[in-house]
Amino acid sequence: MKARIALLPGDGIGPEVIVQARRVLEAVASRHGHGFEFAEARIGGVAIEHDDSPLPAATLELCRACDAVLLGAVGDPRWSSPDAPMRPEQGLLSLRKALAVYANLRPVRGLPALAELSPLRPERVSGVDLMFVRELTGGMYFGPKERTTNAASDLCLYTVPEIERTVRVAARIARTRRRTLVSIDKANVLETSRLWRATTTRVMKDEFPDVAIEHLLVDAAAMHLLSRPADFDVLVTENLFGDILTDEASMLVGSLGMLPSASLGDARPGLYEPVHGSAPDIAGRGIANPYGAILSAAMLLRHSLELLREAHAVEAAVATAIAGGVLTADLRAEGAASTEEAGSAVIDSLVR
Ligand code: NAI
Ligand code: MG
Repeated sequence: MKARIALLPGDGIGPEVIVQARRVLEAVASRHGHGFEFAEARIGGVAIEHDDSPLPAATLELCRACDAVLLGAVGDPRWSSPDAPMRPEQGLLSLRKALAVYANLRPVRGLPALAELSPLRPERVSGVDLMFVRELTGGMYFGPKERTTNAASDLCLYTVPEIERTVRVAARIARTRRRTLVSIDKANVLETSRLWRATTTRVMKDEFPDVAIEHLLVDAAAMHLLSRPADFDVLVTENLFGDILTDEASMLVGSLGMLPSASLGDARPGLYEPVHGSAPDIAGRGIANPYGAILSAAMLLRHSLELLREAHAVEAAVATAIAGGVLTADLRAEGAASTEEAGSAVIDSLVR
């Protein structure tokens, strides 16, 4: 198949990990006979520097003309003082908004070779394979905000269509996995959560009778994620709860550098990025972990290009590279692999 992929390397280690993800995609293309065309554009601090905007119009235009967008990270200490006129992170928020990507997918998969890096006991993380679906463009983060000298408020607002479309994304994914979905809310206290629960219950009953649905309160879910993480499969929740729970869940695996994400809307393109930031503390040294970016490219193959076999092959190649001991410095103190060596190990296992 032919596809156009926008690459937005961004700041810090972003360009370093995106180079490796691109190499992997090129290897997939040549191995499976696909024609992937890549086009690069600026976002974040590097765009502020060159274009005077964290999301230049040309970048957004390019993204809209592509089938999928693969982003590295944004964030540059030079532009992060509280009184900076523009911040790199605004580029990412504007991009998500402009592309209307309302469902944020964050898989968390424990690999045996990394089990001892988790703060939880290895036997507890073994078998962990979660898929979080977080609502990304609604709720308290986007509701009207008010501030007086003595008080402040953030309105949490959800509409039925906003809930329905997010639940549908999660339920469709559940269909391709264990056919179970856990919906997380705070329906014992919050009116938005009562709407969330009622809407979820109806959508699942009417449209996904083949997927089992369970509802959990967010405080209980926070505990269960640590006490019995392997019991969960697909989880869906609103923006604020999802923000917190996905960070909690990310600690189940060895390192931030391992985690991919996808943000999807109703139309193309989908946006794919590793969960980590620009890591200015290690940028430019060739030691960043590229596996999260490479696994994000695998998600791109699956969700935007519907190349399921290829996506699985990339994920298996990452697992093989890690099982073979190709570990970057965040995963191993001594004898660590470089960013490029990790990328090459994935490509080697892919073509073998
Ligand atoms: P960070 O994720 O950049 O780094 C946190 C720690 O994890 C650092 O010690 C870093 O060296 C390490 N780390 C992160 N990714 C790694 C990788 N692939 N390989 C090895 N080690 C890795 O988060 P931090 O330090 O809070 O933020 C740095 C900048 O990134 C800030 O400007 C922040 O706003 C931005 N940021 C951007 C995100 C994005 O583009 N989606 C997400 C999070 C932060
Ligand atoms: Mg967060």
